[in-house]
Amino acid sequence: MATDSIWTCRAGFEPDLAEELAGGRVIAPALCRGREKPGTLPTFGRQGLPIFAETRARVEQCLPRVRELAGDGSFALHVWVPDSDAGNALTGLADRIGRELRTGLGDAAARERRADRLAPGEPLVQIAVTAEDQAFIGASAVSEVASTWPGGRARMKLPPGAPSRATAKLLEALTWVGHGPGPGEVCVDLGAAPGGWTFALLARRARVIAVDRAAMAPAIAKDRRLRHVRGNAFEYRPDEPADWLLCDMVERPAQVAKLLARWGREGMARLVLSNLKLPMKKRVAAVAEACGIVQGGGWKGVRTRQLYHDRDEITLFAHA
Ligand SMILES: C[S@@+](CC[C@H](N)C(=O)[O-])C[C@H]1O[C@@H](n2cnc3c(N)ncnc32)[C@H](O)[C@@H]1O
Repeated sequence: MATDSIWTCRAGFEPDLAEELAGGRVIAPALCRGREKPGTLPTFGRQGLPIFAETRARVEQCLPRVRELAGDGSFALHVWVPDSDAGNALTGLADRIGRELRTGLGDAAARERRADRLAPGEPLVQIAVTAEDQAFIGASAVSEVASTWPGGRARMKLPPGAPSRATAKLLEALTWVGHGPGPGEVCVDLGAAPGGWTFALLARRARVIAVDRAAMAPAIAKDRRLRHVRGNAFEYRPDEPADWLLCDMVERPAQVAKLLARWGREGMARLVLSNLKLPMKKRVAAVAEACGIVQGGGWKGVRTRQLYHDRDEITLFAHA
């Protein structure tokens, strides 16, 4: 029988995450239990761990399991709490368990690496501290986890001069995708103002066509690699195909998906990275509908994820 997993999400999205898991149920704020559906990671799951043991949140109970799961080679160890008021109150306990485990591991602690520096098959050992006296322990190959950040909290530092906090959202999205626009690549940024995403793209030395009815922030408006097209993004068509289509408009997800699908059908970009706002109740259904529309436009490998910096929204990535 498949093992149950513990999954954490943004607080308030537990019913959505539970709906995405087989036999999924909400067990606490920002926490669900269930099984992953084969071949997919849940859109609303920030991080998950297959349950190897459920124990008391005590270092002496966790240490033998961590030793076993870490194996003889390199490993990473994350001790995290759910991102809720109750979960965050346990941060001190989780930090202490992490420190004492590293001491208890002795020489083996020297084999610990950052999760994003592990080779694909090497284990990320995780402990989710979910109550004063409850912890879940598990491990998976790092290539199979949803995030290489503890509890999926991928905190991005806002670079100085960024015109909006949305820069952090795009930086996280590009980390999730695993690559981003290179120097000279053409990016069309739909709904670009005031320019948080455009700022991050220009910093990568990409060329940006920013489409928005509103003005761009003065600090970037004069950049010679930026062209601002002031108008309706639903009517804009590039003169030549772009490398990246980016979209962060506050519009209904199905409308945005239809726009992305048209770009796919007409071959107007190679890659698409878009935010989809989800103010509605049936969010899992809205994501499925949007993905179906985008795939209908010929986009391949459609992936969606509610990133740490996403609020009532998710991020979608696909390629032509
Ligand atoms: C959430 S903001 C984008 C923030 C931006 N990504 C950043 O990093 O600063 C949404 C933007 O979409 C623009 N927008 C919404 N609908 C639009 C449309 N039909 N045509 C052009 N711009 C639109 C709004 O003017 C607004 O500037």
